[in-house]
Amino acid sequence: MGQRRKCLVLLFLFILQTLFSNSLSACSNGTCQLAESCSMTSDCGSGLYCGNCPPTGNTQPICIRGQVVQPTSIMKELPFNKYSWLVTHNSFSIVNAPLLLGVQRVTFYNQEDTVTNQLMNGVRGLMLDMYDFENDIWLCHSLKGQCFNFTAFEPAINTLKEVEAFLSKNPTEIVTIIIEDYVHNPKGLTKLFTAAGLQKYWFPVSKMPKNGEDWPTVTDMVADNHRLLVFTSIASKEADEGIAYQWRYMVENDSGDPGIVQGTCPHRPESEPLDSRKASLFFQNYFPTYPDQDEACKEHSVGLYEMVDACYKSAERMPNFLGVNFYMRSNGGGAFDVVDRMNGQNLCGCSTISACQAGEPAGSCKNTTSSIRTPSAADNGHGSFDGYVQVSGSSSTVHFMNIIIYNLVYLFMVVNLL
Ligand SMILES: *[C@@H]1O[C@H](CO)[C@@H](O)[C@H](O)[C@H]1NC(C)=O
Ligand SMILES: *[C@@H]1O[C@H](CO)[C@@H](O)[C@H](O)[C@H]1NC(C)=O
Ligand SMILES: *[C@@H]1O[C@H](CO)[C@@H](O)[C@H](O)[C@H]1NC(C)=O
Ligand SMILES: *[C@@H]1O[C@H](CO)[C@@H](O)[C@H](O)[C@H]1NC(C)=O
Repeated sequence: MGQRRKCLVLLFLFILQTLFSNSLSACSNGTCQLAESCSMTSDCGSGLYCGNCPPTGNTQPICIRGQVVQPTSIMKELPFNKYSWLVTHNSFSIVNAPLLLGVQRVTFYNQEDTVTNQLMNGVRGLMLDMYDFENDIWLCHSLKGQCFNFTAFEPAINTLKEVEAFLSKNPTEIVTIIIEDYVHNPKGLTKLFTAAGLQKYWFPVSKMPKNGEDWPTVTDMVADNHRLLVFTSIASKEADEGIAYQWRYMVENDSGDPGIVQGTCPHRPESEPLDSRKASLFFQNYFPTYPDQDEACKEHSVGLYEMVDACYKSAERMPNFLGVNFYMRSNGGGAFDVVDRMNGQNLCGCSTISACQAGEPAGSCKNTTSSIRTPSAADNGHGSFDGYVQVSGSSSTVHFMNIIIYNLVYLFMVVNLL
């Protein structure tokens, strides 16, 4: 009996050893770089998390980017409309969001972490669907302009207070909110934004360029504390409440499946043609009609930059906003890398924003090939992004590993009791 027990213990030790030896030998505890194999997120360096992307054939966990390089930390002096910002589509439609109304939700989810966390990871645009509901304004992922208990997420003020906290803690950051607006209570949005403490950051409609001129510079916007841009889909609210009507300021490519046909860049019916010069902002959607958590990593890894490029050629300008589902997911650089490249090309004519040098002429680029690794907090001059990386769902290797470890420990105990 004793012999047999020893044999079993040795066997399990051997299994453990083989399971973890690869990752243990290479790197660990924050030293793993982009694309190096890992077994948990704490193995990876700053701005990275440990994940995989089976749809691209990448089943072994590697360090994947989870944060963007803020372009304003390198180039601050340019007009707002020269920059590209990462936007979360349906930022509030979060997997595992608490059920506040006691009924199961029946809807699609588009993101996996809190809005606070999205902002800390460098997201600078939020797409929020707002509805009159429960004598209040709620964020709902709904249909036919009506919110139901089973499509509701939370009162909009909760999310707006997260934005307020972020803007107050980060006095040089600018956030854009794009509202799919189903609020019909008179002055409903005005009361909401006031209650959330956001009026003090409001960028006034009167200062928004109406004929395709440049926006103020980021430096000026920060100096004036005009750090919140809000757009509504209801035209009359511009005159009634001073909330900018989205389609007066923005062109947008088609969303949903027609928008992801490679090599084309159709514009949304509501939008002016993409090459219209009346609007100075250009919003690019990049997500399929039905959000798929597991496929998103592929969408962000294969063809996304080519799509941006097709839109760039069609509109003859770089998108200012790139809206995606499950923004964290990729097999390496993902949407973060694409936004960095867009900013590099547009702000200084370099391959990526980290290569730009403030005060130098366009095209004088730093050699970034020696540091393919993700920029650390120190590199992006930001103090630190203390955003953390949290991905839930079936692709979560951390979760998978936890189960394996749990089972092994359990088996050890059983064996020792024999
Ligand atoms: C991991 O890294 C941190 C900070 O770099 C250090 O304080 C800690 O001791 C390390 N832990 C191990 C187990 O090496
Ligand atoms: C929706 O939820 C609220 C709050 O729990 C409840 O009062 C109301 O009856 C529910 N409505 C329906 C149609 O179930
Ligand atoms: C246009 O928008 C759709 C919307 O989801 C997006 O998937 C697509 O990639 C975009 N088209 C281009 C050419 O970028
Ligand atoms: C950039 O740096 C790498 C590694 O240090 C070097 O091999 C390469 O030649 C450099 N490229 C240029 C254009 O200086």
